[in-house]
Amino acid sequence: MASRERPGSAMQQQTSRTPYELLGGEPGVAALVARFYKLMDEDPAFAALRRMHAANLAPMRDKLGDWLAGWAGGPQRYHDRPDATCIGRAHAPYAIDRAMRDQWLACMFRALDEVQAPAEAQVRLRPPLAAMAEMLRNR
Ligand code: HEM
Repeated sequence: MASRERPGSAMQQQTSRTPYELLGGEPGVAALVARFYKLMDEDPAFAALRRMHAANLAPMRDKLGDWLAGWAGGPQRYHDRPDATCIGRAHAPYAIDRAMRDQWLACMFRALDEVQAPAEAQVRLRPPLAAMAEMLRNR
């Protein structure tokens, strides 16, 4: 950083952008979630993960979009939903072993690549997503 730059300079503001902003805000998160479920629906590599989900993925697109937006530093819509639940409890009914954890992560990481999420968003989102998926593993 140049010596005359002070806190609050353009440089500082750039590095403090939230992952939500880096993804492109609302339309960016919507595109990411749509790509995630499209991949899950269509790619045989994710068939086992797909089978765990309901036939209609539309409500999940909506829920995951709300959850991810808040988690990535955007509006906290998920917790205001009447059907909000704690993320651990939401996954308790499903058998999540290492293979399912990895399928979920592979699907999300491919979605991040395919919507061309910028490198900084990828670097800030991938490790905590991996930690979260591991936390949800129950087998
Ligand atoms: C970072 C990791 C993950 C995040 C952030 C995440 C997020 C979510 C969210 C927000 C919901 C909706 C909860 C609700 O309000 O009902 C959900 C549902 C679900 N998740 Fe995850 N999840 C993750 C990992 C996984 C993994 C590893 C699996 C592996 C099986 C999985 C399988 C499911 C299933 C089966 C549902 C219910 C879908 C349905 O009812 O159609 N999730 N997840």
